Amino acid sequence: MANTILVGAQWGDEGKGKIIDVLTEDADVVVRYAGGNNAGHTVFIGPQKYILHLVPSGILRKRKLCVIGNGVVVDPVSLVEEIKGLRQLGVKVDANLALSETAHVVFPYHRELDAQRETLKGKHKIGTTKRGIGPAYGDKAARVGLRVIDLITPDRFEAKLRRRLKENNEVLKAFGAKPLSFKSVHAAYRAAGDFLKPFVKNTVVLLHEACQRGDRILFEGAQGTFLDLDHGTYPFVTSSNTTAGGACTGSGVPPHRMDRVVGVMKAYTTRVGEGPLPTENAEIADMLHAMGREFGATTGRPRRCGWFDAVAVRHATMVNGIDDLAVTNLDGLDTVATIKVCIGYRVGKARYDYVPADVEVLSQCEAVYAEFEGWREPTSAARKWKDLPVKARAYLKALAELSGANLAIVSVGPGREQTIFV
Ligand code: IMP
Repeated sequence: MANTILVGAQWGDEGKGKIIDVLTEDADVVVRYAGGNNAGHTVFIGPQKYILHLVPSGILRKRKLCVIGNGVVVDPVSLVEEIKGLRQLGVKVDANLALSETAHVVFPYHRELDAQRETLKGKHKIGTTKRGIGPAYGDKAARVGLRVIDLITPDRFEAKLRRRLKENNEVLKAFGAKPLSFKSVHAAYRAAGDFLKPFVKNTVVLLHEACQRGDRILFEGAQGTFLDLDHGTYPFVTSSNTTAGGACTGSGVPPHRMDRVVGVMKAYTTRVGEGPLPTENAEIADMLHAMGREFGATTGRPRRCGWFDAVAVRHATMVNGIDDLAVTNLDGLDTVATIKVCIGYRVGKARYDYVPADVEVLSQCEAVYAEFEGWREPTSAARKWKDLPVKARAYLKALAELSGANLAIVSVGPGREQTIFV
């Protein structure tokens, strides 16, 4: 495997955790480059379920260096809990995890501000995970954020935290919220800083050395293309660059080192939070929820569901330069008689074969559909391309053709073994 960037081609929750886990077998290094603990990657190994929020899923395999890159925002208290939880499950974290010293830190005032802003927005809310992601990236852009290097340098941390807390408590008071106590935030964060210190590295140099050695690096995208701060359905997006370009800025590995982009997409579409979803469909949502599927890994929220949107994925192919596609959750459609695929958008007489940049226009878009006959038989036991029903293969080929990339992987269930290489 060459250096590979893996991205979500839809609105997040495409099943990236499982595909990353599968691809990691051929990687030496796995890097998270954006987002924070708003992400939740679910991986099943046998009956054991692992939900990872900040730690790259490569940690579940032996001897893979896992890097939390500079582009990630880190809630240190939650990272400590995650590491302790993994250790309890017998996962070897200590020798294999590196945390960038320049990753920004998420504080309780970020979370509180996230929640207060959402409440203030009322029906215009974004539907965030309330993990403080937007305010933390906001501080980074405003050049007032604290970084991991500050967290592990006690004197500097104390002084900077005092200043930030003073300002943020004023803002919280203006919202009518309770100010935060310096003592308790400082104590919890210093303890987390001490715990995390052994993991803190100059990850840019570490990754440069890995490149020099010829190590194979997998860049693990979080969220999805349409949640990207620049290329998503703004303002209904997250606050980082989730697309392939973010892998360079979020890790310090230059563009000419990147060899391949894999786009992960579900065989249908889901979204959590507010914002347009042109193929949203109540029937498919009810069906998937009744199967116990499509509940968020981080917040447990039921996901909104709809038909596959080929316009969106074609757009994602363009923005990320996707070479290979991994289609997940094919088995979710096993019982559907007629499967629809969106091949264009319509607003009155206007037709769009790309995703309009203006979210107001996208909200008015009606999907134009092509129909496919369902295969109506279980696919979860398939292990090879030829094991799949003919109609399922035709559906998958059509998805790849409409999306403009090569079909490389099909996933028919959460297990590692439920993976078909095409
Ligand atoms: P935030 O990242 O918590 O600020 O949330 C912004 C938007 O991104 C909301 O619509 C969230 O539901 C969505 N979002 C954030 N992280 C994820 C994820 O891991 N999967 C799916 N949606 C996400």
